[in-house]
Amino acid sequence: CITHVDAMEILDSRGNPTVRVQIALEDGTTADASVPSGASTGEHEAVELRDTEPARYGGKGVQRAVANVVETIAPVLMGRDPAQQAEIDRLLIDLDGTPGKSRLGANAILGVSMAVARAAAQAFRLPLYAYLGGPGARRLPVPMINVINGGKHADNALDFQEFMLVPHGAPSFREALRYGAETYHALKAVLKRRGLSTAVGDEGGFAPDLSDNEAACALIVEAIEAAGLKPGAQVAIALDPAASSFGTASGGYDLAKSGGGHKSSQEMTALYQHWITAYPIVSLEDGLGENDWAGFATQTAALGDRVQIVGDDLYVTNTAFIARGITERATNAVLIKPNQIGTVTETMEAVALCREAGWRFVVSHRSGETEDSFIADLAVALGGGQIKTGAPCRGERVAKYNRLLEIERELGPDAVYASPFGASRTAP
Ligand code: PGA
Ligand code: ZN
Repeated sequence: CITHVDAMEILDSRGNPTVRVQIALEDGTTADASVPSGASTGEHEAVELRDTEPARYGGKGVQRAVANVVETIAPVLMGRDPAQQAEIDRLLIDLDGTPGKSRLGANAILGVSMAVARAAAQAFRLPLYAYLGGPGARRLPVPMINVINGGKHADNALDFQEFMLVPHGAPSFREALRYGAETYHALKAVLKRRGLSTAVGDEGGFAPDLSDNEAACALIVEAIEAAGLKPGAQVAIALDPAASSFGTASGGYDLAKSGGGHKSSQEMTALYQHWITAYPIVSLEDGLGENDWAGFATQTAALGDRVQIVGDDLYVTNTAFIARGITERATNAVLIKPNQIGTVTETMEAVALCREAGWRFVVSHRSGETEDSFIADLAVALGGGQIKTGAPCRGERVAKYNRLLEIERELGPDAVYASPFGASRTAP
């Protein structure tokens, strides 16, 4: 049973404070967990409690969240069985009592929820993926490797936030990561040759000052070929424009960073349709803004049989929004971020709903991360076959990839690496 719950303020990969929770059990087991933080956050995400005290960290301190763990949450967890994850998460939700977890803070609550899971796994002497996913958990995810950063994640002229490699045609996770890393290096050489910056953005992808968004796709195809790989069949492309970050009040889209002008929802979908024909794109996330439900339904009807349409800000890992999306056929896949909803149990409920609908899901990091590799184990536990965790660069991104390498090695011949994108897409 739980004998000790503690928390502290640490830094995330952007140098902003975040919460780390430590839990100890009667048998001497100790476990900790650290909470990530987004920049292009969805409007309906669970609330990250910040101190708003301007004298410390520009108001971004998390001392109140830390105090909530130590003073409010710890006393109610004493003596509880950490294997009762659902019961403990329910208790945390009730203790907070607000719909957005704003009283105790979703950062405080998620830290505890993740640390409880890790402590229980260790008490059972199980790796976290096997504890959360059971003995059948053996599918490694296809990584979405973010190699060009724009939008709110970089100070360049790209409106679109993420241009990712999808090495789905590799025989194993290990080889997929190699395809991704080799293409990343080839891309660096391509950028250098053109006199473009090879400095990186928040998720470790390059942040070149390209004059238009489409140029990023062309550069990626060039890099895949330069790495000696086949665009489409071996390495495809995924996009996360994160369109909520350039949506306008009137429901349109303003490509302000690139100077690309104003576009309607229909014009955005037409643009993606053109790109899908020109480049080996297999997945499109948040191609429209978080309130553009009708636009999403139109987009999914038009493009959903050719690419995976993923909702991130649209759903914020919340079953209420995902249920609406299923009814309205708004997308055909969901991005899963534990800190958007605030507990491990609710994260798993969101995935269960996707499964029921026959939808795909992608387990994801945040742009502000820590060295905690919880989501690597979570992706294998849930077995959806996809993870999004940044470039093969920056320690907080590589921590997840390295953990997946470890898991694949541990599973040995039982490990499965299978493309969720069906027959390999070939380059147009
Ligand atoms: P965020 O970005 O963590 O800054 O929200 C990630 C995403 O939009 O998928
Ligand atoms: Zn996103």
